Amino acid sequence: MKSLVLTVTLFCLLAVVQAQDDLPFLSEDRNMSGIWYHKAIVNDLNITELRPMKIQKFPLVVRALQKGNMEVTLTFLHNGECVQLEFLMEKIEKPGLYKAVWDTLLTYIYELPVLDHYVFYSECKLIDGKFYVAELIGKDLNENRQALEEFKKFIQLKGFPPENIIVPEQREMCVPKVHNDA
Ligand SMILES: *[C@@H]1O[C@H](CO)[C@@H](O)[C@H](O)[C@H]1NC(C)=O
Ligand SMILES: *[C@@H]1O[C@H](CO)[C@@H](O)[C@H](O)[C@H]1NC(C)=O
Repeated sequence: MKSLVLTVTLFCLLAVVQAQDDLPFLSEDRNMSGIWYHKAIVNDLNITELRPMKIQKFPLVVRALQKGNMEVTLTFLHNGECVQLEFLMEKIEKPGLYKAVWDTLLTYIYELPVLDHYVFYSECKLIDGKFYVAELIGKDLNENRQALEEFKKFIQLKGFPPENIIVPEQREMCVPKVHNDA
């Protein structure tokens, strides 16, 4: 009996220590509605061709819905064309956890100790495996060194290769054609 108590206590202590290393999850009462920007992106794929890849800072429009769900709209330039992607991030029971795109994307949202900065940590399932992506999201286009440092600490903890970090360049935002017609 005593050893069971000891085991349970140790387990809880470990869980607490573990939790302190990690960032806090997005709090339930936070309304993320608004425009956000990607400030850094990292993946754990071992594809060297992707490493020098340059991407623009593209906006992410979030609309907070009922039950913690969120509607996300991404607008970005792809092969010279402005593309708009809209998807639902469905809140699931576990704290900070959302699923999207027919369950192929599981995303944890963490709060950074820097105002208006968050981390989206996603598991993307493919037919033949899965990979992980972490994104630093901020409310403005300005560079925030402290947020980037916190993000680097986080991705190191999650085991991402630091050479895979991409810091998007700021370029002109594009406007999708579909919206001009409407
Ligand atoms: C990454 O890929 C290269 C060749 O494509 C290989 O030599 C290397 O061992 C791989 N690294 C990891 C961590 O899988
Ligand atoms: C979040 O805030 C926006 C306005 O900023 C509001 O329209 C929306 O209803 C809010 N969503 C929730 C779930 O409170």
